Amino acid sequence: MSLKTSFIGLLALAYCTLQPVLCFAAEKDTAGQAIAAGKTVFEDNCSSCHGAHGTEGGAGPSLKNLKARRSGAAIAAWIKNPAPPMPKMYPSAIGDTDIKHLVIYLQSL
Ligand code: HEC
Repeated sequence: MSLKTSFIGLLALAYCTLQPVLCFAAEKDTAGQAIAAGKTVFEDNCSSCHGAHGTEGGAGPSLKNLKARRSGAAIAAWIKNPAPPMPKMYPSAIGDTDIKHLVIYLQSL
């Protein structure tokens, strides 16, 4: 990632932290609602391997501070098309809206 991209990402993050309602208004979810929805999808589909809160790990790695390792787009792409042994659950068990909420939840860990 270039410095310029990182800087724009940081600006966006700062903006979303200060103005979450504005930032997520277009999605018709507040940030809190999106995180809560993502947490539910996570508990139903992912916690068996990544831990109840995603940070404990187990058969899969801890997802704590995932946002430092992968962009939101990269997280979504991975969930849609993971490498084994992580199972592919898209699009049968989890859909596009679920993935959007999952990414927001995972970025909060
Ligand atoms: C059967 C166990 C299993 C389930 C269920 C599972 N995963 Fe995984 N996941 C893994 C394993 C194992 C890896 C590590 C794969 C690798 O590194 O090649 C992984 C890796 C990941 C990564 C990349 C981690 C990193 O540090 O870059 C993400 C993100 C992720 N999983 C999210 C999810 C989400 C979201 C779900 C639910 C929709 C889920 N996983 C369900 C086993 C699982």
